[in-house]
Amino acid sequence: MNLKTRSFITLLDYTPEEINYLINLSSKLKSEKYEGIPHKLLSDKNIVLLFQKDSTRTRCAFEVGALDLGMGVTFLGPSGSQMNKKESVKDTARVLGRMYDGIEFRGYKQKDVESLAKYSGVPVWNGLTDKYHPTQILADFLTIKEIFGYLKGINFTYIGDSRNNMGNSLMIGSAKLGINFIAVAPKELWPEQNLVDICLKIAKETGSTIRFTEDKMEGTKDVDVIYTDVWVSMGEPKEVWNTRIEQLNKYQVDMELMKNAKSTAIFMHCLPAFHDKETDVGASISEEFGDKFPRVKNGEMEVTDEVIESNYSVVFQEAENRMHTIKAVMLATLGGEYE
Ligand code: CP
Ligand code: NVA
Repeated sequence: MNLKTRSFITLLDYTPEEINYLINLSSKLKSEKYEGIPHKLLSDKNIVLLFQKDSTRTRCAFEVGALDLGMGVTFLGPSGSQMNKKESVKDTARVLGRMYDGIEFRGYKQKDVESLAKYSGVPVWNGLTDKYHPTQILADFLTIKEIFGYLKGINFTYIGDSRNNMGNSLMIGSAKLGINFIAVAPKELWPEQNLVDICLKIAKETGSTIRFTEDKMEGTKDVDVIYTDVWVSMGEPKEVWNTRIEQLNKYQVDMELMKNAKSTAIFMHCLPAFHDKETDVGASISEEFGDKFPRVKNGEMEVTDEVIESNYSVVFQEAENRMHTIKAVMLATLGGEYE
């Protein structure tokens, strides 16, 4: 498998074999890390991380992953560089490509990460855009594989805003790897039809199913995985909260829903999650909307505190796997020799 020089900007660009290769490589790198075996395989390389939006997991995964591989890392946040203000993405790409061996980008437009890949001449990794979050999917699937031992044939339900970056990317990833995908949400929050059509075609080849329902009990009945994400994503205006809570509060993942899945089912979330009042946003939303929508009164939105703290929940294993999978993506695309 040779992924050297490839960018990683959407899973649509990768074959099932390539995605499985990256998941297996992540698993090997994880074992080596646990055994204390160093893998500084890219010690002559430097990468730059461009973040227009906040991050804990993705940034730390790239930094720790890069350091474990022996690379130098530069972080550029939403302020502090010239990009977008005095310099176009295209010009920035042509500058950074002459200094760095790889570029990570987290931002708004998918078009920007595509431009970086087109003009930098080095591998570019999508650390989240409004449309896709492909590195997250590798971590999610590694976690499922660790728990169930396989991916093909897993029955997977994503419940919530199904046309955000997570909904889109999980649907693509599921289609590619033969996972049966169900999105549960009100119709207006289902993914765009053209992406659905692309995924249906892929699913046909891999032998999986993709379907959509507004019925949360039907859509979670006897599934292996229940996955959710925030109701309002980064970059969306504060004003959408009211409508989104109205649309999604009955789709909150609670114990009743988890018990409707298989007895061996797991709960997943890319994090960060609103499940208590311990965050500024969680506290202010519950204050503002708690009387009108009792489910959000305690700062619990897409998932209850009980579920995220329960034995169903694998969210921190999933978060750790961000690092092992991102490391694998960097190693494979920068061409580090690995036996
Ligand atoms: N899941 C995820 O991407 O988390 P961060 O926003 O903390 O990077
Ligand atoms: N949909 C979320 C994912 C965060 C990892 C967002 O874009 O904010």
